[in-house]
Amino acid sequence: MKKTFYVTTPIYYPSGNLHIGHAYTTTLADVVARYKKESGYKVFFLTGSDEHGQKIEQKAKENNLPPKKYVDQIVKNFIDLWKILDIDYDRFIRTTDEDHIFAVKEIFTDLLEKDLIYPSTYKGKYCISCEEFLTVEQMDETFHHTICGKEAIDFEEETYMLRVSKFQKYLQELFETNFLEPEPRKKEMLNNFINNDLEDLSVTRVSFNWGIQINENPKHVIYVWLDALSNYITALGFKSKNDDLLKKFWSKDTEILQIIGKEITRFHSIYWPVMLHSLGLKTPDKLLSHGWILSGDKKMSKSIGNVLDPIEIIKKYSSDALRFYIINNLPTDKDGSFTDELFVESFNNNLANNLGNLISRVSNMIIKYFDGQLPKIDISKHWLIKKGFETIEEYKKLMDVYNMSEATQVVLRLGQECNKFIEDSKPWALEKEGKTDELLEVLSVLQKNIIIISYLLKPILVKTYPGMIEQMGLKPELINFNNIKDNFDYDKIINKLVLFERIK
Ligand code: MSP
Repeated sequence: MKKTFYVTTPIYYPSGNLHIGHAYTTTLADVVARYKKESGYKVFFLTGSDEHGQKIEQKAKENNLPPKKYVDQIVKNFIDLWKILDIDYDRFIRTTDEDHIFAVKEIFTDLLEKDLIYPSTYKGKYCISCEEFLTVEQMDETFHHTICGKEAIDFEEETYMLRVSKFQKYLQELFETNFLEPEPRKKEMLNNFINNDLEDLSVTRVSFNWGIQINENPKHVIYVWLDALSNYITALGFKSKNDDLLKKFWSKDTEILQIIGKEITRFHSIYWPVMLHSLGLKTPDKLLSHGWILSGDKKMSKSIGNVLDPIEIIKKYSSDALRFYIINNLPTDKDGSFTDELFVESFNNNLANNLGNLISRVSNMIIKYFDGQLPKIDISKHWLIKKGFETIEEYKKLMDVYNMSEATQVVLRLGQECNKFIEDSKPWALEKEGKTDELLEVLSVLQKNIIIISYLLKPILVKTYPGMIEQMGLKPELINFNNIKDNFDYDKIINKLVLFERIK
């Protein structure tokens, strides 16, 4: 089994502050990274900002600032957001970082020397807002981009092109594997692009300056996608003197997961593999192209202006509450919704009523009936313990294929089973009737299952996890996948914490 893991998010445009959509992708990556660490992997988690291009240049001008000054302030907000959302990345790459700029120029030169990039001219319809040349299918009858609604402009200029068309067969073979998920996205790419007219991609511009100049011709700056996509390897030291990280995290022995939103699937599933193949590097093991968070029936986006601010949500509720909603309520294979009502309903049902109640009832009973400490007994044959152990395996299977939403629901179902077990076994009646052995068994089984539930939710509930475990009388840092099934020595439970207060 591979024991190194590399996970990336898109690098986001600092053309404004981030919204819930960006928090969605980054939280998915963070949770999977934390899960992999728990599973014994060496992990590298990359996120960052995509700072070049015409749109940023324009925004900076509107704000009377040089582009770098302009992006500096916004990127600071990105970093602040990731901090309060408990995003534990290993590097935040900025495309204005010196090492990235140097490496991108080298990548360009390499591809030019291999004749995979050639000088040419480009004519076409271009969307400034999305920094993308558009195909007929991407515009309505009046040449407005169907995604952002902005009008595309006519464009003709000197450019260098990447020979994508040469790689049709390579891409067709690649698309026979499972590297791109979900399945419908694969068909879309094959039908609309790969099996259709696979065109070469323009990779430089002469019409603006805010970008990486190529060594060969200073009039040209690199068109954002070649610059942007390269971040995933320049961050590891590709084309730099020290490429230890690259050897470790972009090798055949590394499991590479790249998470993106579906609107940038074409760039990541077609141009990116072509670039990697041309540079002699492997394609990622998985490109997970998730759906959108909608507002009404439209994509939540800065350019439409219908966005929710994650900072407000974290301040009002908590980072764990937001992380939980993202993972549990927004399965990656569909579009999803984010409204206050849905958020509160999910929190109250799953965290306050199901888990919060379970933990507080069980710890109260352990305190009340056994003075906070249960004598150690063997419960390994109990049906609900077996259920708990099965849940661990089911959860792992789902997490290993990055199905984090279903994995979470499997854990929540164990919580419901435990609550039902309390109702059915009536510990308060057992205590009244003096059935101490039975009472001890019931509470021991519940205590153990709460440990399992809490541990499986640890990658999501970063802040609450320690409290959940302490509430059961254990030290949070001692638990791992190797010992989770052991019969622990519990400490005396003294505290009564409220872990998930119902939102009114
Ligand atoms: N800079 C490019 C990506 C370059 S990657 C080499 C870019 N940036 S972006 O700021 O527009 O961010 C796009 C990404 O943000 C999406 O791919 C997705 O990860 C996330 N999302 C933005 N809005 C979203 C939703 N409404 N719903 C889900 N994800 C969203 O594109």
